[in-house]
Amino acid sequence: MATEGEKHLGGRLTGSMDPILEILNSSIAVDQRLSEVDIQASMAYAKALEKASILTKPELEKILSGLEKISEEWSKGVFVVNKSDEDIHTANERRLKELIGDIAGKLQTGRSRNDQVVTDLKLFMKNSVSVLSTHLLQLIKTLVERAAIEIDVILPGYTHLQKAQPIRWSQFLLSHAVALTRDSERLGEIKKRMNVLPLGSGVLAGNPLDIDRELLRSELDFASISLNSMDAISERDSVVELLFVATLLMTHLSRLAEDLIIYSTSEFGFLTLSEAFIASSSLMPQKKNPISLELIRSKTGRVFGRCASILMVLKGLPSTYNKDLQEDKEAVFDVVDTLTAVLQVATGVISTLQINKENMEKALTPEMLSTDLALYLVRKGVRISLGQQTRELETHSLHVSQVVELLPGGLDSNLQMPFRQALTASGKAIHLAETKGITINNLTLEDLKSISPLFASDVSQVFSFINSVEQYTAVGGTAKSSVTAQIEELRELLKKLKEQA
Ligand code: ARG
Repeated sequence: MATEGEKHLGGRLTGSMDPILEILNSSIAVDQRLSEVDIQASMAYAKALEKASILTKPELEKILSGLEKISEEWSKGVFVVNKSDEDIHTANERRLKELIGDIAGKLQTGRSRNDQVVTDLKLFMKNSVSVLSTHLLQLIKTLVERAAIEIDVILPGYTHLQKAQPIRWSQFLLSHAVALTRDSERLGEIKKRMNVLPLGSGVLAGNPLDIDRELLRSELDFASISLNSMDAISERDSVVELLFVATLLMTHLSRLAEDLIIYSTSEFGFLTLSEAFIASSSLMPQKKNPISLELIRSKTGRVFGRCASILMVLKGLPSTYNKDLQEDKEAVFDVVDTLTAVLQVATGVISTLQINKENMEKALTPEMLSTDLALYLVRKGVRISLGQQTRELETHSLHVSQVVELLPGGLDSNLQMPFRQALTASGKAIHLAETKGITINNLTLEDLKSISPLFASDVSQVFSFINSVEQYTAVGGTAKSSVTAQIEELRELLKKLKEQA
């Protein structure tokens, strides 16, 4: 059976393999990480063989206790890998034969390393996804709870890395938390999709012993059984999905990392990272290098590289098993390890950093309120056209639309200023302030009235950062009520996500 034995497994080849190829072909150094799940799957398969009358009860007992012994050797770190062990499957099989003799050779009846390796890998990935989900939920929780505590802190929000509008620090934290909840959902979805048992698909044609695959499924705790043997042994969708979800998650983390790097510079001074997550320079002791965040950023490239490499390996492969597929495990292990570390470091960084509230507030500039000035004009127009009814608006804290309904003829559009026009007026105010060498909040009412007659003495209320953020009460906005609602919703979502993790 040439497909089953590049070395001597099938007895077809008599010469020995080129020594360099032997090294290249060997995957034991990498896939010994599957030792536990390989034994688990072998135990299940042995039980199915007994049910199919290939093994007697005593033979089954012998195989199970041999496998038990091998498992112990692996966990104690005393399993001795031979030079001739090509991969974890052949290593465990060789050891079983040493321990229990020729009966060991019965274990592979109707099974192939092809259905074995993908079963092992899926068992490993299912477990890994749960671990990753738990770490990810911890990170999201850290962001959400920090947002709840520091809800009153206001800082500039940026677009194009230019000061745009004032926001709550919590709105910033939650923006990252929300992105991460989608990653958490994705992990849950791929976990469901990978939960399909391939064992019992053999080399490619299926299992010739009418093996009880339902028994295998329940023994190995899969949700369902693969539908087609050729697909089952060759598809690596769950590998790709895991690598893709990891890549997108890392992309989110790298953006968070970059924000925090910027905010922690002495130029911004918005936050100080804990000493546990920075390094100093041996040459320049004044430096506090945010290496934790830089590593998160760089590991994103690494994870994406793994994802791209597996897609390249899969592209254009002929049907079923080809040795190319051996590449999959290294990618999975590396990504799982990287992400496990990165998620914990990210949680550590977020939970220990200190914010410098004063610096955040100092960075708020009146020009950031220019949109608010325009909004003031729009609202003023609405209020003037509401006339008498304006009092209703104020005293009963009604929404504008509710008061408009009270007006027999609706709003007087002649009195309303369209937002674009209002923005132009606000732009003029900024220009005027610039020419006078002052900030817009220091323009006199006369200055403003020269731009639009709608300006009145209450314009002074516009120049308040807290008033500014408090306007954004619509769902998802940065007003306190809206941020609080986000926090509550995220807490609920976290409970649900925990159940699926
Ligand atoms: N070590 C191999 C792998 O990781 C196991 C499957 C080998 N199958 C084969 N037909 N050569 O893919």
